[in-house]
Amino acid sequence: MAVAHDDPIGMTSGATATSRYDVAVVEPDPRYRMRLGTQLAGAAQFESIEELVQHLRPGRPVVAVFGPSVAVPLGFQQVQRLVAAYPELGAVFAVAEVSAPVLQAALRAGARDTVAAGDAATMVQAVARVGDLLHDSTASRVPAVVESRANPGRLTVVFSTKGGVGKSTIAINIAVAMARRTDERVALVDADLHFGDIGVLLGIPPQTTITDAAASIQFADAEMLGTMLTRHESGVYVLPAPAEAVLGIALPPEELVGVCSALQSFCGQVIVDTPTAFDDSILALLEAADEILLVGGMDIPSVKNLKIGMQALDLAAIAGPKLHLVLNRANTQVKLDVREIEQVLGLRAEFPIPSDIAVPISVNAGQPVVAQDPKSPATRAMEHIAVTLLGADVAASSKKRRGRKQQ
Ligand SMILES: Nc1ncnc2c1ncn2[C@@H]1O[C@H](COP(=O)(O)OP(=O)(O)OP(=O)(O)O)[C@@H](O)[C@H]1O
Ligand SMILES: [Mg+2]
Repeated sequence: MAVAHDDPIGMTSGATATSRYDVAVVEPDPRYRMRLGTQLAGAAQFESIEELVQHLRPGRPVVAVFGPSVAVPLGFQQVQRLVAAYPELGAVFAVAEVSAPVLQAALRAGARDTVAAGDAATMVQAVARVGDLLHDSTASRVPAVVESRANPGRLTVVFSTKGGVGKSTIAINIAVAMARRTDERVALVDADLHFGDIGVLLGIPPQTTITDAAASIQFADAEMLGTMLTRHESGVYVLPAPAEAVLGIALPPEELVGVCSALQSFCGQVIVDTPTAFDDSILALLEAADEILLVGGMDIPSVKNLKIGMQALDLAAIAGPKLHLVLNRANTQVKLDVREIEQVLGLRAEFPIPSDIAVPISVNAGQPVVAQDPKSPATRAMEHIAVTLLGADVAASSKKRRGRKQQ
């Protein structure tokens, strides 16, 4: 039985529904259903998932709130199938008590949020957030089901000992450039917990973030982590940093590395943007990396900083051949020349990127420069990095194959 829907689509526009999306409550128990319906004033109410399905309109976003009676194994399974079949549906579970197993089951089912049924304010907020997200056509979720890879994907860490040198710009653009060239999944992780801006730069709402992924890493598998990623229109799967920084909070090394290696189990390439401050977690990440892009600028403080940082971290020993120097704004008219920098750092400037007005223009347009301005000098330089890293992947896997043959 559907309650309170007298319009042809079966979903009424009330306080919680908007012209941009519908809101529905699914709960077999009439008492719970009424209560949820009151909390989400104006939501259409359905007794069962089957009944909801009869009223879904293709292409029209709907936030479906599943009540406590649906939060059982069979209910989670049905919701998982529903979410996979209707990408425009955002599932929210309203449960009697939010516990780790319930959270895990809901995430596996592809739910976008889980809230306590009694907490009306949080529920309304969750519905609004999910509704806005559904409406945002630039971002959509990864289907709940992801296939695991035979070999782990490659982990590339974009790192510097100096702030503001272009780490995030480079991480975003090489991820987008890679996604255009490979059929494999490319993930982009923002490990800058405090000032991470990848979500903002790509216009992705930080609905599930690296802290959520880290919090569930003990019990998360690839499938579950897949539901936490947001797909950018470029095809890159993004794990952003939280929108509101909690100062002083750091991810333990095992959680940061754990999230990345779980992503490697189903993504061909994992690119990580890092904060400037380095700690045990970043060191562990650098150790785990297959490739490290060490980003420096063409100014004396930047080079001095890189030199000191490299010595302090003993980076050459940790990183060895996987360390690649990226000199950003390498055409800048300053007294330093590239050869001098190479000598000071003891590293070849493998990837120079010119200073390019197309970069800030693309930031203002909310687009990565490789997508916005394919012919710009900065695009060409960053595409070269992406192609080289993808090539390194091909070389590494054929080496592995050769190695196996020779055994
Ligand atoms: N090659 C380039 N040409 C022109 N502008 C650039 C270039 N690379 C980066 N920028 C600009 O420099 C600024 C800093 O870049 P970005 O945010 O990527 O640095 P970051 O190292 O991630 O900084 P933070 O340490 O704050 O995280 C941005 O405004 C960006 O648009
Ligand atoms: Mg940054």
